[in-house]
Amino acid sequence: MSDRPQPLFITFEGIDGAGKSTHIATLAERLRHQGRAVTVTREPGGTALAEALRESLLRTSMDALTEALLVFAARRDHLRHVIEPALAAGQVVLCDRFTDATFAYQGYGRGFDLDVLRTLERWVQSGPAGWRQPDLTLWFDVPPEVAAARLAQARAPDRFEAQPQAFFERVAAGYAARAAEAPQRIVRIDARAEVSAVWQQVEAACRARGVLP
Ligand code: TYD
Repeated sequence: MSDRPQPLFITFEGIDGAGKSTHIATLAERLRHQGRAVTVTREPGGTALAEALRESLLRTSMDALTEALLVFAARRDHLRHVIEPALAAGQVVLCDRFTDATFAYQGYGRGFDLDVLRTLERWVQSGPAGWRQPDLTLWFDVPPEVAAARLAQARAPDRFEAQPQAFFERVAAGYAARAAEAPQRIVRIDARAEVSAVWQQVEAACRARGVLP
């Protein structure tokens, strides 16, 4: 058996205002402290092309199919040029949002056909190593009204953040549905609590999976 640590693909999900960003940074720091090489990235984005697509997605109105295709086009580029090479090099990849966000936002939020999303998911995430899925997904679950209050104190909203609360209720229901479909992969974090209490849950989930000692 090799001593080389297993690569890990960990994604972070939740509605806007759920507060995942701080915990991504803390987990990256902890993993680096353990001597792991870590790539921190985000979706949509992570490559020059995917970041350009992100700009359009966050600013330009478009129909739900166009939106879904652009999100998956960005994901394909990101997988090929960042995520797969980092995993192949034995790194841990921490990704701020991935395909669960597409099911939650484009599927449940915008009402786009879930079967089409499932087909795109299989096309886009398949490669030489098979069908790529995160090894672990931390789902920061927070009631939409709490998230809205947090966002109101932050910056000017983008096209998604400007959606009404009813949209985020559907997105939250989408995350709950995805979590029910993949209970082994998706761990629910109660993100209503203060930052330190939320981190304790993140740490516990990572310890339970052997991600942290
Ligand atoms: P977000 O992580 O909220 O970025 P930031 O914290 O910098 O605002 O992601 C940007 C938005 O993109 C977010 O509102 C959700 C949306 N999104 C989708 O609609 N579908 C997707 O597949 C992904 C990955 C994100």
